Amino acid sequence: MVNINIVPPLIFIAFSAFPLLVNYFLKRKYKRLIEKLHETEDDYYHQFIFVSFINFDCRQHLIDKRECGEHCSYNYQQTLVRFMASAKSSICLCMYTFSMRDINVELIKAHKRGASVRIIADQIMLKTDVAKHNLTFLKNSGVPLKVQPNNQSMMHHKFCLIDKEDRDSAKMFFGSMNLTTQGLVSNFDNVVLTNNSTMIQRFSEEFEELWANF
Ligand SMILES: *[C@@H]1O[C@H](CO)[C@@H](O)[C@H](O)[C@H]1NC(C)=O
Ligand SMILES: *[C@@H]1O[C@H](CO)[C@@H](O)[C@H](O)[C@H]1NC(C)=O
Ligand SMILES: *[C@@H]1O[C@H](CO)[C@@H](O)[C@H](O)[C@H]1NC(C)=O
Ligand SMILES: *[C@@H]1O[C@H](CO)[C@@H](O)[C@H](O)[C@H]1NC(C)=O
Ligand SMILES: *[C@@H]1O[C@H](CO)[C@@H](O)[C@H](O)[C@H]1NC(C)=O
Ligand SMILES: [Zn+2]
Repeated sequence: MVNINIVPPLIFIAFSAFPLLVNYFLKRKYKRLIEKLHETEDDYYHQFIFVSFINFDCRQHLIDKRECGEHCSYNYQQTLVRFMASAKSSICLCMYTFSMRDINVELIKAHKRGASVRIIADQIMLKTDVAKHNLTFLKNSGVPLKVQPNNQSMMHHKFCLIDKEDRDSAKMFFGSMNLTTQGLVSNFDNVVLTNNSTMIQRFSEEFEELWANF
Protein backbone atom coordinates (compact mmCIF):
# COMPACT_ATOMS: atom_id res chain seq x y z
CA MET A 1 0.00 0.00 0.00
CA VAL A 2 1.21 3.50 -0.90
CA ASN A 3 1.44 5.78 2.00
CA ILE A 4 -1.29 8.38 1.25
CA ASN A 5 0.76 11.03 3.02
CA ILE A 6 3.51 11.18 0.42
CA VAL A 7 1.16 11.78 -2.56
CA PRO A 8 0.58 15.54 -2.03
CA PRO A 9 4.31 16.28 -1.72
CA LEU A 10 4.94 14.19 -4.88
CA ILE A 11 2.31 16.15 -6.80
CA PHE A 12 3.82 19.33 -5.46
CA ILE A 13 7.30 18.30 -6.59
CA ALA A 14 6.02 17.26 -10.01
CA PHE A 15 4.29 20.61 -10.47
CA SER A 16 7.22 22.66 -9.37
CA ALA A 17 9.61 20.60 -11.52
CA PHE A 18 7.47 21.04 -14.62
CA PRO A 19 8.41 24.65 -15.42
CA LEU A 20 12.06 23.82 -14.76
CA LEU A 21 11.87 20.96 -17.26
CA VAL A 22 10.12 23.14 -19.83
CA ASN A 23 12.73 25.81 -19.25
CA TYR A 24 15.49 23.24 -19.69
CA PHE A 25 14.18 21.91 -22.99
CA LEU A 26 13.35 25.33 -24.39
CA LYS A 27 16.81 26.55 -23.50
CA ARG A 28 18.35 23.55 -25.24
CA LYS A 29 16.21 24.07 -28.30
CA TYR A 30 16.92 27.79 -28.59
CA LYS A 31 20.52 27.74 -27.46
CA ARG A 32 21.80 27.44 -31.04
CA LEU A 33 19.44 30.18 -32.16
CA ILE A 34 20.59 32.55 -29.43
CA GLU A 35 24.23 31.76 -30.17
CA LYS A 36 23.60 32.50 -33.82
CA LEU A 37 22.00 35.84 -32.99
CA HIS A 38 25.04 36.83 -30.94
CA GLU A 39 27.31 35.69 -33.73
CA THR A 40 25.70 37.93 -36.30
CA GLU A 41 25.67 40.85 -33.87
CA ASP A 42 29.41 40.62 -33.24
CA ASP A 43 30.54 39.23 -36.52
CA TYR A 44 33.13 41.83 -37.39
CA TYR A 45 36.85 41.53 -37.73
CA HIS A 46 39.47 43.99 -36.64
CA GLN A 47 43.05 43.57 -37.77
CA PHE A 48 45.81 45.81 -36.46
CA ILE A 49 49.03 46.91 -38.07
CA PHE A 50 51.53 48.66 -35.83
CA VAL A 51 54.74 49.93 -37.36
CA SER A 52 57.39 50.08 -34.65
CA PHE A 53 61.03 49.33 -33.77
CA ILE A 54 60.81 45.87 -35.29
CA ASN A 55 60.07 47.39 -38.70
CA PHE A 56 62.98 49.80 -38.88
CA ASP A 57 65.17 47.13 -40.52
CA CYS A 58 62.52 46.10 -43.02
CA ARG A 59 63.28 48.45 -45.92
CA GLN A 60 65.36 45.75 -47.63
CA HIS A 61 62.58 43.18 -47.08
CA LEU A 62 60.27 45.30 -49.21
CA ILE A 63 62.86 45.23 -51.99
CA ASP A 64 63.70 41.51 -51.63
CA LYS A 65 60.02 40.67 -51.17
CA ARG A 66 61.02 38.49 -48.23
CA GLU A 67 59.41 38.66 -44.83
CA CYS A 68 61.46 38.56 -41.64
CA GLY A 69 58.49 37.40 -39.55
CA GLU A 70 54.82 37.93 -38.88
CA HIS A 71 55.26 41.65 -38.20
CA CYS A 72 57.49 42.36 -41.18
CA SER A 73 56.73 45.50 -43.18
CA TYR A 74 56.62 43.32 -46.28
CA ASN A 75 53.78 41.33 -44.70
CA TYR A 76 51.98 44.55 -43.85
CA GLN A 77 52.39 45.80 -47.39
CA GLN A 78 51.03 42.54 -48.78
CA THR A 79 48.04 42.78 -46.43
CA LEU A 80 47.23 46.22 -47.83
CA VAL A 81 47.82 45.12 -51.41
CA ARG A 82 45.49 42.11 -50.97
CA PHE A 83 42.95 44.42 -49.40
CA MET A 84 42.92 46.59 -52.54
CA ALA A 85 43.01 43.55 -54.81
CA SER A 86 39.85 42.16 -53.21
CA ALA A 87 37.72 45.10 -54.39
CA LYS A 88 34.83 43.98 -56.56
CA SER A 89 32.68 47.09 -56.94
CA SER A 90 34.50 50.10 -55.51
CA ILE A 91 37.49 51.67 -53.80
CA CYS A 92 37.22 55.05 -52.07
CA LEU A 93 40.65 56.17 -50.97
CA CYS A 94 41.26 59.27 -48.90
CA MET A 95 45.00 59.58 -48.33
CA TYR A 96 47.23 62.47 -47.39
CA THR A 97 50.08 61.15 -49.48
CA PHE A 98 51.03 57.90 -51.08
CA SER A 99 53.72 56.40 -53.23
CA MET A 100 53.52 52.62 -52.99
CA ARG A 101 53.95 51.20 -56.40
CA ASP A 102 52.21 47.90 -55.55
CA ILE A 103 49.17 49.77 -54.24
CA ASN A 104 49.04 51.97 -57.36
CA VAL A 105 49.11 48.87 -59.50
CA GLU A 106 46.14 47.40 -57.61
CA LEU A 107 44.20 50.66 -57.89
CA ILE A 108 44.69 50.70 -61.64
CA LYS A 109 43.82 47.00 -61.96
CA ALA A 110 40.60 47.59 -60.02
CA HIS A 111 39.76 50.55 -62.25
CA LYS A 112 40.43 48.46 -65.37
CA ARG A 113 38.21 45.61 -64.21
CA GLY A 114 35.35 48.07 -63.89
CA ALA A 115 35.30 48.85 -60.18
CA SER A 116 34.61 52.47 -59.32
CA VAL A 117 37.91 53.83 -57.98
CA ARG A 118 37.96 57.33 -56.52
CA ILE A 119 40.90 59.00 -54.81
CA ILE A 120 41.07 62.08 -52.63
CA ALA A 121 44.58 63.33 -51.94
CA ASP A 122 46.22 66.41 -50.49
CA GLN A 123 46.73 69.42 -52.75
CA ILE A 124 50.19 70.32 -51.44
CA MET A 125 51.36 66.70 -51.36
CA LEU A 126 50.25 66.38 -54.95
CA LYS A 127 52.91 68.97 -55.79
CA THR A 128 55.75 67.02 -54.18
CA ASP A 129 57.86 64.96 -56.57
CA VAL A 130 57.01 61.49 -55.35
CA ALA A 131 53.27 61.95 -54.92
CA LYS A 132 53.06 63.91 -58.17
CA HIS A 133 54.67 61.03 -60.02
CA ASN A 134 52.44 58.44 -58.47
CA LEU A 135 49.21 60.40 -58.69
CA THR A 136 49.85 61.51 -62.28
CA PHE A 137 50.39 57.85 -63.10
CA LEU A 138 46.97 57.04 -61.61
CA LYS A 139 45.29 60.02 -63.24
CA ASN A 140 46.72 59.13 -66.65
CA SER A 141 45.27 55.66 -66.21
CA GLY A 142 41.86 57.27 -65.87
CA VAL A 143 41.38 57.00 -62.10
CA PRO A 144 39.26 59.94 -60.84
CA LEU A 145 41.26 62.07 -58.41
CA LYS A 146 40.33 65.10 -56.33
CA VAL A 147 42.10 67.36 -53.82
CA GLN A 148 40.76 69.85 -51.31
CA PRO A 149 39.90 73.23 -52.90
CA ASN A 150 41.91 75.31 -50.49
CA ASN A 151 45.53 74.61 -49.62
CA GLN A 152 45.26 76.35 -46.23
CA SER A 153 43.90 73.10 -44.78
CA MET A 154 45.57 69.73 -45.18
CA MET A 155 43.56 66.84 -46.53
CA HIS A 156 44.96 64.84 -43.67
CA HIS A 157 42.68 61.77 -43.72
CA LYS A 158 44.08 58.32 -44.16
CA PHE A 159 41.34 55.83 -44.84
CA CYS A 160 40.11 53.49 -47.53
CA LEU A 161 36.72 51.91 -48.17
CA ILE A 162 36.32 48.74 -50.23
CA ASP A 163 32.96 47.70 -51.75
CA LYS A 164 31.11 50.00 -49.37
CA GLU A 165 27.79 49.43 -51.10
CA ASP A 166 27.97 45.67 -50.71
CA ARG A 167 26.95 44.50 -47.21
CA ASP A 168 28.74 41.17 -47.55
CA SER A 169 32.15 42.29 -48.74
CA ALA A 170 32.35 45.90 -47.45
CA LYS A 171 35.46 46.66 -45.45
CA MET A 172 37.76 49.52 -44.65
CA PHE A 173 41.03 50.58 -43.13
CA PHE A 174 42.04 53.77 -41.38
CA GLY A 175 44.94 54.90 -39.26
CA SER A 176 47.91 57.21 -39.06
CA MET A 177 49.94 55.75 -41.90
CA ASN A 178 50.37 57.33 -45.32
CA LEU A 179 50.62 54.72 -48.02
CA THR A 180 54.35 55.27 -48.39
CA THR A 181 57.42 53.13 -47.91
CA GLN A 182 58.44 55.50 -45.14
CA GLY A 183 55.15 54.83 -43.37
CA LEU A 184 55.90 51.11 -43.47
CA VAL A 185 59.52 51.09 -42.36
CA SER A 186 60.53 54.24 -40.53
CA ASN A 187 57.68 55.81 -38.57
CA PHE A 188 55.63 54.78 -35.56
CA ASP A 189 52.30 54.25 -37.26
CA ASN A 190 49.07 52.28 -37.12
CA VAL A 191 46.46 50.93 -39.49
CA VAL A 192 43.21 49.27 -38.42
CA LEU A 193 41.40 47.05 -40.91
CA THR A 194 37.79 46.18 -40.17
CA ASN A 195 34.44 45.28 -41.64
CA ASN A 196 32.44 46.93 -38.86
CA SER A 197 29.38 48.26 -40.69
CA THR A 198 28.81 51.21 -38.35
CA MET A 199 32.27 52.50 -39.09
CA ILE A 200 31.99 51.84 -42.80
CA GLN A 201 28.71 53.73 -42.90
CA ARG A 202 30.12 56.79 -41.16
CA PHE A 203 33.32 56.93 -43.21
CA SER A 204 31.29 56.51 -46.42
CA GLU A 205 29.20 59.53 -45.55
CA GLU A 206 32.36 61.53 -44.96
CA PHE A 207 33.90 60.42 -48.24
CA GLU A 208 30.80 61.30 -50.25
CA GLU A 209 30.56 64.66 -48.52
CA LEU A 210 34.16 65.49 -49.44
CA TRP A 211 33.84 64.12 -52.95
CA ALA A 212 30.78 66.29 -53.55
CA ASN A 213 32.49 69.44 -52.28
CA PHE A 214 36.02 69.06 -53.66
C1 LIG B 1 31.00 48.15 -34.52
O1 LIG B 1 31.09 49.52 -34.33
C2 LIG B 1 30.14 50.06 -33.47
C3 LIG B 1 30.40 51.52 -33.42
O2 LIG B 1 31.75 51.79 -33.34
C4 LIG B 1 30.21 49.44 -32.11
O3 LIG B 1 29.16 49.92 -31.32
C5 LIG B 1 30.13 47.97 -32.24
O4 LIG B 1 30.32 47.37 -30.99
C6 LIG B 1 31.15 47.47 -33.21
N1 LIG B 1 31.07 46.05 -33.28
C7 LIG B 1 32.09 45.27 -33.09
C8 LIG B 1 31.81 43.81 -33.06
O5 LIG B 1 33.21 45.67 -32.99
C1 LIG C 1 33.03 40.44 -41.16
O1 LIG C 1 34.10 39.54 -41.23
C2 LIG C 1 33.86 38.33 -40.55
C3 LIG C 1 35.16 37.55 -40.51
O2 LIG C 1 35.66 37.36 -41.79
C4 LIG C 1 32.73 37.60 -41.26
O3 LIG C 1 32.47 36.39 -40.63
C5 LIG C 1 31.50 38.49 -41.21
O4 LIG C 1 30.46 37.90 -41.94
C6 LIG C 1 31.79 39.87 -41.77
N1 LIG C 1 30.66 40.73 -41.48
C7 LIG C 1 30.15 41.56 -42.39
C8 LIG C 1 29.01 42.38 -41.93
O5 LIG C 1 30.59 41.64 -43.50
C1 LIG D 1 55.95 56.33 -56.91
O1 LIG D 1 56.87 56.65 -55.90
C2 LIG D 1 57.89 55.70 -55.66
C3 LIG D 1 58.84 56.27 -54.66
O2 LIG D 1 58.31 56.24 -53.38
C4 LIG D 1 58.62 55.32 -56.93
O3 LIG D 1 59.48 54.22 -56.66
C5 LIG D 1 57.63 54.96 -58.01
O4 LIG D 1 58.33 54.66 -59.19
C6 LIG D 1 56.68 56.11 -58.21
N1 LIG D 1 55.87 56.00 -59.39
C7 LIG D 1 54.89 55.13 -59.61
C8 LIG D 1 54.23 55.23 -60.92
O5 LIG D 1 54.50 54.29 -58.80
C1 LIG E 1 48.12 77.80 -52.20
O1 LIG E 1 47.06 78.43 -52.89
C2 LIG E 1 47.33 79.79 -53.18
C3 LIG E 1 46.06 80.41 -53.75
O2 LIG E 1 45.44 79.54 -54.64
C4 LIG E 1 48.52 79.87 -54.15
O3 LIG E 1 48.81 81.20 -54.46
C5 LIG E 1 49.73 79.23 -53.48
O4 LIG E 1 50.81 79.18 -54.39
C6 LIG E 1 49.39 77.81 -53.04
N1 LIG E 1 50.52 77.28 -52.26
C7 LIG E 1 51.11 76.16 -52.55
C8 LIG E 1 52.23 75.76 -51.65
O5 LIG E 1 50.78 75.45 -53.47
C1 LIG F 1 52.73 61.18 -43.69
O1 LIG F 1 51.76 62.02 -43.21
C2 LIG F 1 52.18 62.97 -42.26
C3 LIG F 1 50.99 63.70 -41.81
O2 LIG F 1 50.13 62.85 -41.13
C4 LIG F 1 53.23 63.85 -42.86
O3 LIG F 1 53.66 64.81 -41.93
C5 LIG F 1 54.39 63.02 -43.31
O4 LIG F 1 55.33 63.79 -43.96
C6 LIG F 1 53.92 61.92 -44.22
N1 LIG F 1 55.00 61.01 -44.45
C7 LIG F 1 55.37 60.69 -45.66
C8 LIG F 1 56.48 59.72 -45.75
O5 LIG F 1 54.88 61.11 -46.66
ZN1 LIG G 1 60.97 42.67 -42.24
